[in-house]
Amino acid sequence: MSDNNTTKKPLKITETILRDAHQSLIATRMTTEQMLPIVDKMDKVGYHAVECWGGATFDASLRFLKEDPWDRLRKLRAGFKNTKLQMLFRGQNILGYRPYADDVVEYFVQKSIANGIDIIRIFDCLNDLRNLQTAVTATNKEGGHAQVALSYTLGDAYTLEYWTEMAKKVEDMGANSVCIKDMAGLLTPYKAEELIKAMKSTISIPIELHTHYTSGVASMTCLKAVEAGCDIIDTAISPFALGTSQPATEVMVETFKGTAYDTGLDQMLLKEIADYFRPMREEAIKSGLLNPKVLGVDIQTLLYQVPGGMLSNMVSQLKEQNAEDKYMEVLEEIPRVRKDLGEPPLVTPSSQIVGTQAVFNVLMGERYKVATKETKDVLLGKYGQTVKPFNPEVVDKVLGEDKKNAITCRYADLLEPELDKIEAEMKQWKQQDEDVLTYALFPQVATEFFKYRQAQQTKVDPAVADEKNKAYPV
Ligand code: CO
Repeated sequence: MSDNNTTKKPLKITETILRDAHQSLIATRMTTEQMLPIVDKMDKVGYHAVECWGGATFDASLRFLKEDPWDRLRKLRAGFKNTKLQMLFRGQNILGYRPYADDVVEYFVQKSIANGIDIIRIFDCLNDLRNLQTAVTATNKEGGHAQVALSYTLGDAYTLEYWTEMAKKVEDMGANSVCIKDMAGLLTPYKAEELIKAMKSTISIPIELHTHYTSGVASMTCLKAVEAGCDIIDTAISPFALGTSQPATEVMVETFKGTAYDTGLDQMLLKEIADYFRPMREEAIKSGLLNPKVLGVDIQTLLYQVPGGMLSNMVSQLKEQNAEDKYMEVLEEIPRVRKDLGEPPLVTPSSQIVGTQAVFNVLMGERYKVATKETKDVLLGKYGQTVKPFNPEVVDKVLGEDKKNAITCRYADLLEPELDKIEAEMKQWKQQDEDVLTYALFPQVATEFFKYRQAQQTKVDPAVADEKNKAYPV
């Protein structure tokens, strides 16, 4: 009996339904109101964590749902009494699209943890660890769990040695765990086995696998990863699993039942949770919010190593220009641009930068005749250091004289503290400390939201508000 126990290594599950699953399938449109009635049941499952905040949820709450993202976090925290809450954090870019000064990064981490986040998953689109250090240190300081996610990609530079060296550095920088973030579903089963084994023999902090079903291999990849020693995998409850989302929670739980990796999660409880979300899926298909196209296998992901979301962006850019016939040309141009720019992983925002530049290169009939501001900034070193050097001819053509302004330091080292200035700018709207951060990330969208909030507050009937509050565990 004791022999059996020593070999047991229960797999831990992070459920993504409240963040990545709906971000990947229904454009991040799930509302807090849709989440709260099921929180109590989800809290009883025994997940390692529930990913529920960060990524695109912050932007989408404000922009499309007219919700205060901080309020969502507090309500989820109140409901999840036994489960760790996890968020996704874009390193120095926080949840926005530009690099911020350290004081904003630190304050955001502090407020995220104060409002209920336990685990902060931090990544950088270039895997430049300098862009993660401030957030990792701040998370440690606030008593949170700092997880560093390495953006997984393929290419000459991305050898097994690259990944194990990165993992070692991540451990050394103070991360409590490391995640392999396979946003495009490029990690195949036997590659995963090899990768996890190599990492396991290098580091002692837990390893988590985050992958997407886009290319159809994700559940097999999880299986091989777990056999190789992966500690935690990310899954989504079945109605919002597969396609561009994660493998299904119930399927992975069943797969490991009765083995040394048995998760111990209760299928009946998972069924009740799936039953809750299924009508939401049906509704999303009916309304067109969930496009059945994203539920299938997209093999182009494996052939061209381009993430699914990037392809749909590219198609719409070509459509706008009446140049859909250039699709294949652009698809072939993407890997070339990626090489010119130092072969970065393709994940927000590097995926958009490479994709848009590839479209320009093809449509203009001459490569880099027009370079976007973002392409220039990459070549100026503002996004950080790439794993390979830039193509010097491209640097000359795009930057010209400006080449001498390129930086090699961490870009945020050049930024003055900006919190005070931001607060002064938005003072009239401030109702809580967190509003300053909301405004820092999305000044325009935040202002719209603050106006909306104010209008709601002045017209709301207190009796109705009272009724509404009663319906949910606050
Ligand atoms: Co993801």
